[in-house]
Amino acid sequence: MKTIIYYFSGTGNSLVIARDLALELGKAEVKPLAKAINQEKILPDAERIGLVYPVYAGGPPLIVSEFAKKLELNKNQYLFLVTNYGVMQGAAASRLTRLLRRRQINPKSVFGITMPDNYTPLYESPSEQKQEAIFKKEKAKIKKIVQTLNSTKPEKMEMSFFLARWLLWEPIYGIFSLKLPEKDKKFWLTEKCNGCGICEKVCPVANIKMENQKPSWQHKCQQCFACFHWCPQEAVQSGKKTIKRKRYRNPEVNLESMIEAACLI
Ligand SMILES: Cc1cc2nc3c(=O)[nH]c(=O)nc-3n(C[C@H](O)[C@H](O)[C@H](O)COP(=O)(O)O)c2cc1C
Repeated sequence: MKTIIYYFSGTGNSLVIARDLALELGKAEVKPLAKAINQEKILPDAERIGLVYPVYAGGPPLIVSEFAKKLELNKNQYLFLVTNYGVMQGAAASRLTRLLRRRQINPKSVFGITMPDNYTPLYESPSEQKQEAIFKKEKAKIKKIVQTLNSTKPEKMEMSFFLARWLLWEPIYGIFSLKLPEKDKKFWLTEKCNGCGICEKVCPVANIKMENQKPSWQHKCQQCFACFHWCPQEAVQSGKKTIKRKRYRNPEVNLESMIEAACLI
């Protein structure tokens, strides 16, 4: 069975999940969602379609919802979602499922995977030792997901507890997503910035323009933090606390693959 897996990723976690799934499934293609979204309608030519994305404040990245609004599937095409998060999924799968169902698209399975947390303004990412343990569990989980997908009844819904979603995560996501594209106003630069332009290239939604050899954020941000984590000088900061905190990049992903996934290329 042919599979297409679309992903959105700031620090490579979703890309690694998409790649691992593709390898384990066989006959699978991995595509960056940020590029596919440029089409008016998204009509994947495969029997099975996967969508892999990170959780932001208990919800899906805005671009993932936009993608879902453009996705066109027929009744025989099988759709599955794979969320990944530092701590919990919140309403990231339920919100997207609701949106898709309103468009008569029914995701048959939803999975959740824990990955290293990359929201550095709030907390430090896990140590390398803890990351290793997380990656080991991720590889094991991929095998389980593929077993489910290849089973005779491939239906599984791994979602957060109903009350937690409605009482906690829906309101938190509602607040987070208010004026979200403008949240890039919190980014600032230290004198370490040498104008290399990697932040511009790595931004998946072309939200950065180099002006006088310095990045200028264009207020259509997704909050993926790619510019922040991939800056080789660690010159990009967000708020007051990040200056002392380490950056995180999935060790299986190189800069080239992140740049290739960005919509500019
Ligand atoms: C803006 C932002 C908000 C986040 N919110 C949550 C959250 O609500 N719950 C959680 O468990 N992880 C949260 N995370 C962590 C990411 O979901 C997690 O690190 C994910 O694996 C990143 O995937 P990526 O490398 O593909 O971008 C957040 C990260 C960012 C950048």
